Amino acid sequence: MGPPGCSSDTIAPVSPLDSGAYGRVFADVYDDWYHDITDVDGTVAALAKLAAGGAVLELGVGTGRIALPLSQHTPVDGVDTSPEMLAVLESKPGAARVGARLGDMTALALDGPYALVLVAFNTFFNLPDDAAQARCIGEVRRVLGPGGRLVIEAAVPAVVDDDRPIHHDERRDDGAGGTIWTITTHEPATRTIHGVHVHRRADGTTVDRPWRIHYLAPPQLDAMCHDAGLALASRWADWSGTPWQPDDDRHVSVYRVARPLDPGTGPHAS
Ligand SMILES: C[S@@+](CC[C@H](N)C(=O)[O-])C[C@H]1O[C@@H](n2cnc3c(N)ncnc32)[C@H](O)[C@@H]1O
Repeated sequence: MGPPGCSSDTIAPVSPLDSGAYGRVFADVYDDWYHDITDVDGTVAALAKLAAGGAVLELGVGTGRIALPLSQHTPVDGVDTSPEMLAVLESKPGAARVGARLGDMTALALDGPYALVLVAFNTFFNLPDDAAQARCIGEVRRVLGPGGRLVIEAAVPAVVDDDRPIHHDERRDDGAGGTIWTITTHEPATRTIHGVHVHRRADGTTVDRPWRIHYLAPPQLDAMCHDAGLALASRWADWSGTPWQPDDDRHVSVYRVARPLDPGTGPHAS
């Protein structure tokens, strides 16, 4: 059962959200809800080893969950479209170590060269369609230096039998005396999952927190990277380097620069 007026039968289609929407509705709760969504210590250890002291760029850096601890080991820049998420990052100790700036990961106002570009858990799927995702990968290739790597951490989409939308709703406590109803629709035909967290806080106020992802299966991501001149170097099931198996529900994929930039596309052809 869902919240009043929001049963799975009455979910309205959701238009694509603008690129600042996520931060506008999640910045105030992001760290409380998601600080331990992935293994931060393991992530930082693996990335520091891969970067080997070279400069790292995190796309969709958010509140600095990964970038801040990583910046204790290696230089880190970050871009994000959300001033609200960046304001949370900037309020934290050590924020001055991260070169965080407002920007869109599909059109980077940066040249690098970076040793490593990171897109942490499912952040890449915030980009609304294949075209935006391909533009982003092209930008990554442009700012990577010779021998540079791209690391993408993402969920592996469930295999579904047909293209009919799948609705789901669930309720949980917010840990602060409030309640969160989550109503989700998975549209396999468009590789989209969208939903809303209807958050009734302890003080009785309610806020809707909508989100939307456009997912890729690992082979689709490999093909997109290949088109931009990046080749899969390793695929792990976790940040300790466990080899990935097709039934794992998430992957950490490391891509390396595989061919020179096309003439005129950037200053770091390798
Ligand atoms: C799920 S949060 C992840 C934050 C951080 N990477 C982490 O792992 O904690 C996704 C972030 O991507 C940002 N974002 C969404 N679309 C973006 C875009 N087109 N360019 C840059 N950042 C974007 C959002 O504002 C948000 O901060």
